[in-house]
Amino acid sequence: MTTAVLSPAGNRELLALLGRTPLARVTVDLPCPQPGFWAKLEGLGVGGMKARAAVSMLLGAKERGELRPGAPVVESTSGTLGIGLAFAGQALGHPIVLVGDTELEPSMRQLLRAYGARLELVDRPAAEGGWQAARLARLRELLTSLPEAYWPDQYNNPDNIAGYASLAAELAVQLDHLDVLVCSVGTGGHSAGVVGPLRRHWPGLRLIGVDATGSTIFGQPARPRLMRGLGSSIHPRNVAYDAFDEVHWVGPAEAADACRRLAVGNFVSGGWSTGAVALVAAWAARVHPGAVVATVFPDGPHRYLGTVYDDDFAAAHGLDPATVATRPVEIPHPRAVEATGWARCRSVTDPLERRTPRLEESP
Ligand SMILES: Cc1ncc(COP(=O)(O)O)c(C=O)c1O
Repeated sequence: MTTAVLSPAGNRELLALLGRTPLARVTVDLPCPQPGFWAKLEGLGVGGMKARAAVSMLLGAKERGELRPGAPVVESTSGTLGIGLAFAGQALGHPIVLVGDTELEPSMRQLLRAYGARLELVDRPAAEGGWQAARLARLRELLTSLPEAYWPDQYNNPDNIAGYASLAAELAVQLDHLDVLVCSVGTGGHSAGVVGPLRRHWPGLRLIGVDATGSTIFGQPARPRLMRGLGSSIHPRNVAYDAFDEVHWVGPAEAADACRRLAVGNFVSGGWSTGAVALVAAWAARVHPGAVVATVFPDGPHRYLGTVYDDDFAAAHGLDPATVATRPVEIPHPRAVEATGWARCRSVTDPLERRTPRLEESP
C-alpha cells in the first residue's frame, strides 16, 4: 500500500470541483417507447454522487469538533461513498479507512486504494443484516483500535442528506419545471436531500422511490441481493418515508436490461441503480403524459463492465431480457406480497413503525 502524505489542512482547492453535473435527456425505449425524461449524471462529477454527502458529513463533524484535524475517518461502504470519502479526505486532510466486503468489484478495490484509502474487506455476510451488518461489526472493531477516528455513519447522519442541497440547487437552475422526481434509495440520503429543497421550489412535486427486490428498506423481507448501491438489509434512519408518494421494487434482470438499452441507445448509462431508476422514470413519463420527469443516475457504467454489461455474468445469474416486464405489478401494501420483480406500492410507511400485517419471513 502506498502511504499518502496528507497535510491536516488538506487541499481545499479540490472542493471547487464538486458537483455541477450535466443533465441529459433520455428518450430511448425502456423497454418500450416513452416520451423522455431528464437524468442528472452524477457519475460525471468529481468523486461521484457521494462526494457531495462525504464533504458535507466531514465538514459538519469538523464544525462540531467531532473530527479533529488530521484524524482518520472510518466508514462502511459498498463503493460509491468510499470514492466520495477519498475525495473529501484529500480535500479536508483526513486519512480514510473503509470497510467493504468481498463482493466489492476488483476494479473498485483498486480505485479506492489508488486514491489512498485503506480498505478492509469482510468475507461473509452476517446471519441477520447481511453484508451491511458484517461490515458494521468490523467497523466497530476498527473504531476501538483507532480512538481518534470519526465514523460518519452515512445511514443515519443528517449531514448526508444536507450534502445534496447542491444537487437540488443545480436541478432548480437546469429545469424550468418538475412534476415527478425518481430516486433510488440506499441510505436515503439523496432522495431526502433533493426533494426537500425542490418541493419548496415546486410544491406539487411527486417523489417516487426505487428500491431493489430483496431489500428491506420499505418493508419487504430482506433477501440476498445481486444488485449493489440501491437497497439495504437494514432500515436506515435517513430514509424520508413521509416524503415518498410511491415506491417501486426493481429486479436485477430489469435493471440490467435498462442499463444496456441506455448505453446502446442513449450513450449515458450506469449500474444497477441507474438502470432501475431509468426503467421507473420512463414508466412515469408514459403514465403521466405531459409531465416533466427527472431522475438521478448515481454513477457511470465502468464499475459494472464485469456484471451488468457482461454476457457470461448475465447468463450465470439468469438475467434474461425476455423476462422484463413493461409495467409494475401493483401491491396494496409493502408486506402484502413479496416482490420478486418490478412491483409498485402507493402506500409508503416506515417499517419500524409497523402498522400493517407482516409478511412471513423465511428463517
Ligand atoms: C451506486 C449507488 N446508487 C444509489 C445509491 C443510493 O443512494 P442513497 O444512499 O443516497 O440513498 C447508492 C448508495 O450507496 C449507490 O452507491
